[in-house]
Amino acid sequence: MKVIAYNGSPRKKGNTSILIQTVLKELNKQGIETEEIHIGLKNYRGCLGCMKCAENKNGKCVITTDDLNLQIEKIIAADAVILGSPIYCANISGQMKTFIDRVSMVGCVNGDLYKRKPGASVLAVRRAGGVEGMNTINSFFAISQMLIVGTTYWNMGYGMLEGEVLSDAEGIQTMVNLGKNMGWLLKSLELAKGKVEEPDSARQILTNFIR
Ligand SMILES: Cc1cc2nc3c(=O)[nH]c(=O)nc-3n(C[C@H](O)[C@H](O)[C@H](O)COP(=O)(O)O)c2cc1C
Repeated sequence: MKVIAYNGSPRKKGNTSILIQTVLKELNKQGIETEEIHIGLKNYRGCLGCMKCAENKNGKCVITTDDLNLQIEKIIAADAVILGSPIYCANISGQMKTFIDRVSMVGCVNGDLYKRKPGASVLAVRRAGGVEGMNTINSFFAISQMLIVGTTYWNMGYGMLEGEVLSDAEGIQTMVNLGKNMGWLLKSLELAKGKVEEPDSARQILTNFIR
């Protein structure tokens, strides 16, 4: 089993990474393979709103000047996904938002490519905006029919300067418990394979409010 964690901070060794690594360590203890992928310096461009991903139905974004399509393949291949971000102006970083916009649209209009994968958010915050950031990431998981993993506090740790989050004992505990919960869910899903039938939850009706 493999869990991939995307880090939307440009600070590769910053607080988001420390929190993500705390979760990954717990998963490793349960024998689960992990990988942290830094996207904070990658310059993913924003969604064009062209809806070609819905038209082409090939599981790809038409923008090929960055490696987003490779990341979509990696997410599909992974057993679970973690999205971590610093809080910028009371929400996730712009880097993480452009990533989510494109990854989520391609997934949703191609038959829910990430359906029933566990997903967890991780936020590094100095003071305010952590819950807003968590809700933004969870909105992607929810509309993708993913399984949102919670923990003993909302999924965040407090710190400003690089490394400061290590002083937030409850934040670290929150991440340890997040790793334990995600590991437990992954093992439970593995045991259910072939024993518990997956429901048919295809997206058949799409109405806009103007109609
Ligand atoms: C542009 C920018 C905006 C920020 N906005 C907020 C904010 O709205 N609320 C907050 O609590 N912290 C804010 N911060 C602080 C970061 O969330 C905090 O330093 C976090 O630990 C950074 O994580 P990192 O080390 O992984 O980059 C901001 C930092 C930057 C650089």
